[in-house]
Amino acid sequence: MADTEELAKGYIAKSNTQFGAGTFLLEKLGLGPGMHVLDVGCGPGNLTSHLAEIVDEQGSVVGIDPSKERIALAQQLAARNLSFHEGQAEDLSRFPAGSFDAVFVNSTLHWVQDQATAIKEFARVLKPGGRLGISGGSGDYTTAQERIKADVLEREPYRNYEEEAPPKFLKQREMEHLLDEATLGDRRFFINKIVKAAKDADEMIDWLDTSSSGKTYGGIPLDLRPKARAEMKVEWEKLLTEEGIRMEMELLVTVAFKA
Ligand SMILES: C[S@@+](CC[C@H](N)C(=O)[O-])C[C@H]1O[C@@H](n2cnc3c(N)ncnc32)[C@H](O)[C@@H]1O
Repeated sequence: MADTEELAKGYIAKSNTQFGAGTFLLEKLGLGPGMHVLDVGCGPGNLTSHLAEIVDEQGSVVGIDPSKERIALAQQLAARNLSFHEGQAEDLSRFPAGSFDAVFVNSTLHWVQDQATAIKEFARVLKPGGRLGISGGSGDYTTAQERIKADVLEREPYRNYEEEAPPKFLKQREMEHLLDEATLGDRRFFINKIVKAAKDADEMIDWLDTSSSGKTYGGIPLDLRPKARAEMKVEWEKLLTEEGIRMEMELLVTVAFKA
């Protein structure tokens, strides 16, 4: 589904889980003043703007994202050391080789269709000694969201509509393979265990919708979405306690250095 301005705006208000994950990645990546950084899949730019504060006036941050709705919002945050462009991870040809000290990829890689090409592009645009940081859902861990999505979309009539570009969460050994192919041999991995809390099923589904640009519903047509949402809501309500819903997640955090 195409992104919408409403989902993009909703993401700014509801993305503190991704912001927290980004902060964890930042700690591991060790960005500092004067660095030139590329933020791939920057969304509406809230985290990108935080990166620009860290690299300070001597450094610079460029954010790219394929969603024109999200880039339009991000451009409102542009500053002397902070710019945004429409673009995608698989094609960074607007940037010469060796342009950046760091490439930052938070909560995004699972949406990238050609992950192997993207990781080679990240390696190409890094300077020698530059660092790549990626954080995202781990393929070695299945969340309640993935279970509920698969369960509902397996039902009639949804099962007749195949998802065009489903998210792909990498297992650590798959990530290692892609880093090998991109000749990023010096790397370390961390598991970031987090909990996404929501007061009820609607809040959880709203968060999933804004985070996935509407892809929570796989490939089903727009008119079937309210019905699918209602069925997903029933499943989420089974996980509701007095404290609300707590979804445990494991993020695979990768830091790799270019020789
Ligand atoms: C959950 S948001 C993460 C935004 C931001 N990095 C953050 O941590 O708040 C995922 C972003 O990935 C973007 N995206 C999807 N496919 C992409 C691709 N092929 N290349 C780069 N970004 C992509 C989406 O448009 C969306 O803005």
